[in-house]
Amino acid sequence: MKYSVIHRLLPAMLSLFFIQNPILAQSHTMDWVPVAPGVWKAVTGNPENIDPLRIAGIKPDMHALQKLGETTFPQNLRQSTSEQYDAKTMLWFPLLKNEQLFGLGLNFKSVQQRGTVKELQVDHYGGEDNGRTHAPVPFYISDNGYGVLVNVARRIKVYAGIAVRKDSKNPPEEMNRNTQRNWNPQPYSDAVEMIIPSAGAEIYIFAGRNPMEVVQRYNLFCGGGVLPPKWGLGFTQRVPTLYTDKQVMEEVNAFEEKGYPLSFVGLEPGWQTYSYPNNFVWDESRFPQPENFVQQLLSKNIRVNLWINPYISSHAPFFNEMQPYTGTHTVWAGQVPDLTMKPVQDLYKQLFSQQHLNIGVSGYKVDETDGYDFWLWPDAAKFPSGVSGEQMRQIYGLQFQKMSDAWFREKNQRTYGLTRASNAGASSMPYVIYNDYYNHRDFITALCNSSFIGVLWTPEARSSKTAEEWLRRMQTVCFSPMAMLNAWADGTKPWSFPEVADEVKDVMTLRMQLLPYLYNSFAQYHFEGKPPVRAMNLADGFYFDAKTEKGKLNSSDNPYEMALKKDINDQFMLGDYILVAPLFAGQEEREVILPKGRWYDFYTGELAGESDIIKIKQKLGKIPLFVKEGGFIPMIPYMPHTPEKNEMLPLQVRYYGNIENTMELYDDDGETFDYEKGNFAKATLSVKKDKKGALKGNAVLPKSKYFHYNNVTWEFITKSR
Ligand code: GAL
Repeated sequence: MKYSVIHRLLPAMLSLFFIQNPILAQSHTMDWVPVAPGVWKAVTGNPENIDPLRIAGIKPDMHALQKLGETTFPQNLRQSTSEQYDAKTMLWFPLLKNEQLFGLGLNFKSVQQRGTVKELQVDHYGGEDNGRTHAPVPFYISDNGYGVLVNVARRIKVYAGIAVRKDSKNPPEEMNRNTQRNWNPQPYSDAVEMIIPSAGAEIYIFAGRNPMEVVQRYNLFCGGGVLPPKWGLGFTQRVPTLYTDKQVMEEVNAFEEKGYPLSFVGLEPGWQTYSYPNNFVWDESRFPQPENFVQQLLSKNIRVNLWINPYISSHAPFFNEMQPYTGTHTVWAGQVPDLTMKPVQDLYKQLFSQQHLNIGVSGYKVDETDGYDFWLWPDAAKFPSGVSGEQMRQIYGLQFQKMSDAWFREKNQRTYGLTRASNAGASSMPYVIYNDYYNHRDFITALCNSSFIGVLWTPEARSSKTAEEWLRRMQTVCFSPMAMLNAWADGTKPWSFPEVADEVKDVMTLRMQLLPYLYNSFAQYHFEGKPPVRAMNLADGFYFDAKTEKGKLNSSDNPYEMALKKDINDQFMLGDYILVAPLFAGQEEREVILPKGRWYDFYTGELAGESDIIKIKQKLGKIPLFVKEGGFIPMIPYMPHTPEKNEMLPLQVRYYGNIENTMELYDDDGETFDYEKGNFAKATLSVKKDKKGALKGNAVLPKSKYFHYNNVTWEFITKSR
């Protein structure tokens, strides 16, 4: 080629080089637009038209968000950038040196997420916090007062405080491993980076004065947390597969005779004629009169929940009609319906209403919407709506939750069921996540982590090697969003280990007595966005004050100093006042990190510690529980089932410590959605000191048909002052 030709072509060649060399592509800061008080949104590139928030159909609770108040945009995040190249969207968010990060999906091993790499993908949890989990919600919360949500139905790769760009303004110091002992294989990184395999994304920022406020904004933006029906907070037993109606009745009677509480039973595979794939129709050989069966249980105040997975057998009544709306691949040789399509939703609704809802079934356990890779469709699958295999996997469980929630809403009847897959936007969904993984400690860590990302999790009990393990598992089950024994394979009962049968009964009894407290905690989830189960990092007085508290306390024992370093993944808060510190099989003592203030033993009312880390020994019989000073624990007398609609009950309020305090106690009809129209009532409980300094309780009860407690008695359980 002649020089002159090269010369003429050079500019074009150079421009080609500049466009194609990714290193020289430009990332840009984003335009953050306020969308609700304390919530901002930015759009980068061309977002896809399928995303979790849209699937969940979120309706932000603007009223509650306004009540929470305005905040300023987290200034540091102005530097965040985005960029499209390599057919992907790249996001970069700054990170300060001491920031801690939480969230990034339902993790089972640790609460702290800084310094981790994840590929967020809906999957059955496989024992590693690598992003493959039941609810890979692309949302992280910083203790520096903000949260970042990436609203896409794709597998997002996240480097959370891992990578360092060479143009970093806060690079780590270069060190020499030969001579410097504190050389670090993972040097300080000043960013969270994300890679999204799509041409664009919607990103939200939630601000807050502390991690709890960030979580509240997120939940309220998603419509507020779910308020389950009261029966959903009682005890549930899932019976073995292939059980008949007679066997179920015998099991229910055994609960009654032996004096164990029961609010709903779950039928596992076998209630339908075909399963894996399913026909969704009652098997007449095992359930000849399904309506009678369901109604008989309802007359005992016990509900029925049905196991399903969404994959359609050739024997299903709607098999032919569904054909045009199913994907290219099968699961267990069943058809995979495109749940995003209206005809599919209508066909499900029709069959499920006729077969289940209209005869009194109260909810579903929606199985197998998560993974494993070996069972579900591959990414290569195509769906008639144009949603890809990858996208469908990210939203399938969420879509089923949304779809079935709507059927019950239409009947003005609340449901509460189980799911194995979820995603962003799920806060208001009446579903609790469960799985087949069975590590007790990790189950508790998942409970902590569920609180950051707007999902509920149950550490179900199934089987145990020893009586001790059984009791420890049943104890934690009773302090979770769904108190469930899943006997589908093992046929276990609460009394399966006679050595601990009484202790199991005790903790189940306590669960039932705590109903007003539990229900009130869920009302907080709905109206204020505060999750019912909370990681310690969301507890009051655990974080921000904590940093200023330094020095006042013994520095070697300072819990807040510890909290800043440690991953607190084995204790949690239930509502505002109860701290749960489970023990695991083989463990007789443990440390409990008490947040700021005085804390009391739940059972004796004695002072347990103050702003401290305590070592406790607990006998097998009880799960360690602590109550914050000024804690009100509203309870009811034991009952074997959750109360009937409009049943009036006496209220027993336990009070801890020696300070004055006030709380509001929420109530409504416990079954319908009328509370959304303002049909609820609140009592004011207050404790004041009289002239002699003695505590006196006062309850101002609303004159309302939505309030079902009367005859208030007080127990000031802390005797030594
Ligand atoms: C599993 C599920 C179990 C049980 C079982 C029944 O996938 O996780 O809880 O329902 O199916 O076959």
